[in-house]
Amino acid sequence: MKTTYYGQSAIMIETEGKKLLFDPFISPNPAAKHINIHNLKPDYILVSHGHGDHIADLVTIQKSSGAKVICIAEIAGWLGKQGIEAHGMNIGGGFNFDFGRVKMVNAVHSSTMPDGAAGGNPAGFVVYSEGKKAYYAGDTALTYDMKLLEDENLDWAFLPIGDNYTMGVDDAIKATRFINCQNIIGMHYDTFPVIAINKEEAMEKFIKAGINLKLLKIGESINL
Ligand code: NI
Ligand code: MN
Repeated sequence: MKTTYYGQSAIMIETEGKKLLFDPFISPNPAAKHINIHNLKPDYILVSHGHGDHIADLVTIQKSSGAKVICIAEIAGWLGKQGIEAHGMNIGGGFNFDFGRVKMVNAVHSSTMPDGAAGGNPAGFVVYSEGKKAYYAGDTALTYDMKLLEDENLDWAFLPIGDNYTMGVDDAIKATRFINCQNIIGMHYDTFPVIAINKEEAMEKFIKAGINLKLLKIGESINL
């Protein structure tokens, strides 16, 4: 699994010959100006919830790529009204796609669409592909529900660490114990002043906790 970071919570995972784009908020992000969203061409777009900092480029990228959207039922309905077919799911449910399995899991946050339409509940995802397991938390507080992932033997987790709207660094470190995962990619930080973090301090805290934290540059890729 190759992963590329596009800022905020926008992540591409390439696996089994498919490109999975999570929470596309790229073109409005001044720090991601060098990314051309029309070159991304995902096969799937996974959406954690309806906030603008997660779906700003959703419709544009879906229309230019024809990607299948994977999201909660209410967002699938909202897309359907715009003529975009989506694969609706709900919390606790999993489905076997051609690249592997996706399970939708709980996130403690809020959700509404940019036009005020209902966005259903916010969600996270666990992706099972190429024999690996990755948890994409979306926007969430630290929650005891994360303990449900403890015995999954996750290889990687994408966790928000920016505080204010989601977990901050200290709660994200607690979350690594709940989910029993040693390899973390941080997201949802530095995009706006209220979620600016001290990256050196964050790295030090994770090192002290014995957890591998990766803070990728926008456009940087690593192999999971
Ligand atoms: Ni949000
Ligand atoms: Mn957000």
